[in-house]
Amino acid sequence: MSDSKRAYSFTKGGLKKFNAVLGVILKEIKPGKDDIERVTSYSNEIISRLHNAVPKDVEIIAAGSIAHGTNLKGSSDIDIFMLFPKTLEERDMEKQALAIAKGIVQKHRNESYIIKYAEHPYLKLRMNDLGIDADIVPAFKIADSKEMGSAVDRTQLHTKFVVSHLSERQKDDVRLAKFMLDQHDIYGAEAATEGFSGYLCELLIHHFGSLHSLIEGMANLSVPIAIDAAPRRVLLEKDLESMAKKFNSRFIVVDPTDPSRNVAANVSEESLARLVLLSRRIIKTPSRATIFGAEYSEADSSRKMEKLGSALGVDIYALAFGTDDIAEDILWQQARKLRKRIHEMLEDCGFMPVFSLEGIENNSAVLTFMVNPARFGSVSVKGPSAFMKGASDEFTSAHSRSPMLYLIGERLAAIDKPKFSTPKELLERFSKGKEKGMPTHLKTKGSRLFVNRIPEAYSKIIYRSLISKRIA
Ligand code: UTP
Ligand code: MN
Repeated sequence: MSDSKRAYSFTKGGLKKFNAVLGVILKEIKPGKDDIERVTSYSNEIISRLHNAVPKDVEIIAAGSIAHGTNLKGSSDIDIFMLFPKTLEERDMEKQALAIAKGIVQKHRNESYIIKYAEHPYLKLRMNDLGIDADIVPAFKIADSKEMGSAVDRTQLHTKFVVSHLSERQKDDVRLAKFMLDQHDIYGAEAATEGFSGYLCELLIHHFGSLHSLIEGMANLSVPIAIDAAPRRVLLEKDLESMAKKFNSRFIVVDPTDPSRNVAANVSEESLARLVLLSRRIIKTPSRATIFGAEYSEADSSRKMEKLGSALGVDIYALAFGTDDIAEDILWQQARKLRKRIHEMLEDCGFMPVFSLEGIENNSAVLTFMVNPARFGSVSVKGPSAFMKGASDEFTSAHSRSPMLYLIGERLAAIDKPKFSTPKELLERFSKGKEKGMPTHLKTKGSRLFVNRIPEAYSKIIYRSLISKRIA
């Protein structure tokens, strides 16, 4: 059978086992009646507090997984939206919204708040006694995506769609899908994860009909694919081509509330591939252990990293930076970009990095590089074609001191003495703030470089990142 025709599907017995396992897990992750009542009554209370504080033309709604009935026990926040009339100026709206939201926080009931930054600033209210957070988010009231002012305006439309299109059984399947993805570090659209958002899980369950069909669909997935979620249709040929081009992506799920939005835009190819492999494992072995994934403890991370380093015969370098207090997404993007840049720089300087990763926690960003200890006496650098006038002149003058400037076919090449004699020397340029073009929110001041012996606090960050990269 050719590879493209190989179909992964549950056997009858496998599906029975899978459903039995899911039944048990669902009991563990689905909020019970009491949980739902507690959260709903708190959500209603916040809504009515806001009601009393806003002008008449502002509507307050519950949104997100709690309003959809797709929330997980304990881990889902309350999402409340304040919908302002579109006649308001955006900045005015933000200002008003924050002032109103701050005004309803009741300190004497042990509530506190923090301001968070997404497209608009919003308020995260913490009910410390109940251990519940409520995000109070301002947006404009719209009836159609055509009226949209900013991305958060879509949320109210999502709620309408999910509430009117998913059955109770499908909502439970969404809960299971979210739990399963979270176990494998691919739940959430934020830059740290680049995975599947709650709304994307809802749309995928709606499209495939059930969790087991979603898993079969993913196990057999070929890309590019474009799913038109509302009519539950997969686009083909010309339609697919034009979608792939329009969204510049190989995995597209068109938002039923807004045809100009790919709900899967934040899903990295790696996260998608991870789900494909996970789905195949589940079909092969539909057990609790497969769904839960590898157990991992962060205890003794430092020792575990040392052991891994010596087993692989590599040196482990860890660059730790303090971070500014800004949106996590931006920090992850900056850390990832810098990590890739340094990895390439190590290669260009003749070192042999075999693996690198980034991690962020508690105002620290840690970039880690595993590098073969071998040392080169010289590095070869390939330059441009001799026929390229400007570029070839530049190359010759940049390598004027090279002991060996020559041609490989038409291309200029040089053999140089390495700029740095150890990876440490190179990495110190970054920890000492000597390298130009550093990301704006990673602080070189107080930054540190560790070789092989990495303090536990940083090792934990690295180890967690490392685990999330592995295929279980
Ligand atoms: P949340 O991130 O709170 O997700 O976004 P959720 O669906 O409620 O899931 P959990 O249970 O908290 O993890 C709330 C709403 O904001 C919109 C969606 O409409 C979502 O239902 N949203 C959020 C997006 O459209 N895209 C995103 O990337 C995030
Ligand atoms: Mn939520």
